[in-house]
Amino acid sequence: MTSKLFESLAIGPVTVPNRIAVAPMCQYSAHDGCADPDWHGQHLMNLAMTGAGLVVIEATAVERLGRITHGCLGLWDDATEASVARMLAAGRRFAHPGTRFGIQLGHAGRKASAQRTWEGGRALSADADPWTTVSASAVPFDAHWHTPIALDDTGIARVKSAFVDASRRAVRLGLDVIELHAAHGYLLHQFTSPLSNRRTDRYGGSLDNRLRLPLEIMQAVRAAVPAHVAVGARITGTDWHPDGITIEEAVVFARELKALGADYVCVTSGGIVPGISIPVAEGYQVPLAERIRRETGITTRAVGLIVDPVHADLVISSGRADQVALARAFIDNPRWVWHAAQKLDAPISYPPPYDRIRPGSWPGAALARPK
Ligand SMILES: Cc1cc2nc3c(=O)[nH]c(=O)nc-3n(C[C@H](O)[C@H](O)[C@H](O)COP(=O)(O)O)c2cc1C
Repeated sequence: MTSKLFESLAIGPVTVPNRIAVAPMCQYSAHDGCADPDWHGQHLMNLAMTGAGLVVIEATAVERLGRITHGCLGLWDDATEASVARMLAAGRRFAHPGTRFGIQLGHAGRKASAQRTWEGGRALSADADPWTTVSASAVPFDAHWHTPIALDDTGIARVKSAFVDASRRAVRLGLDVIELHAAHGYLLHQFTSPLSNRRTDRYGGSLDNRLRLPLEIMQAVRAAVPAHVAVGARITGTDWHPDGITIEEAVVFARELKALGADYVCVTSGGIVPGISIPVAEGYQVPLAERIRRETGITTRAVGLIVDPVHADLVISSGRADQVALARAFIDNPRWVWHAAQKLDAPISYPPPYDRIRPGSWPGAALARPK
């Protein structure tokens, strides 16, 4: 019997050949929002060749001040769009048959204007070309971080149109999946969480009000993109904080997204305030995905320390999620899918020039790969 992990999945209008996704991973290697022709080209080629059913391109800023760092990818003008087109062309040339590509559209809000992770990840200092940040409220992420400007109605309208414009560019690029980044403490999460949203207008206070901006953006994006493109969101299952978003609130968010035509959610957590203790362990966010899937019926992706193929298969076969996403495991081992297929006895095709590395033709496969 075929492993469930290797069964196809319909994500709204888009069918992927298996349940494995490459999670979005910022590369901090762009230049004023434009993908680096060499780094991003090889990065996407590499991911495209993994055999994952879906590859989601890293968090991509919908406007320049929505970048996390000077190295973040953008999709706000013709130059950034052309750079993503080049990167995609590289990826598509080497993609496994059936592999679909998505892009995560985001805005860093008060976590923008920061150093790259390997530079320390702190707020940019005055001599490092920082920029003014925006958020739900004028509350900095942490001490020594920029105090953001609270978005007024005009600013909110600008951000909404930026998401819609970037979505239209994503459609033009032929992307199959558009994912709104509403997690990890970035702008849409800053609106949904009471830890960062202190507003007293219709975008703050009650859960309905805190969800208003991401829901309005989902509605506007869904209306702007054609029906053959899947639209989803990465949401937080919990803030891991007594005063933050709870799983019950996340269920409401997912239900509302679904009602507006969202095709899926990817359930992650954390990142809204520093110093939170997260019980990181294998599959630690799967229970959040499971609850959202069970209570809303929306197609649900689980992510977070899913590394073992047997575990990944069990997450799917036990109905806890419809799809799993892996990030670091794919960087560590871009052949994760090939090895998982061997372990789970699932048939997959290899790129023809690599066909002689298939387990059936290479006895070394049994020796080289994890049992
Ligand atoms: C290098 C790197 C970059 C990341 N960039 C993003 C990103 O652009 N958007 C996002 O939602 N999460 C991002 N993440 C989080 C991953 O998508 C994923 O949720 C997290 O790493 C947990 O999955 P894993 O245990 O399989 O790595 C990033 C993680 C890493 C390691």
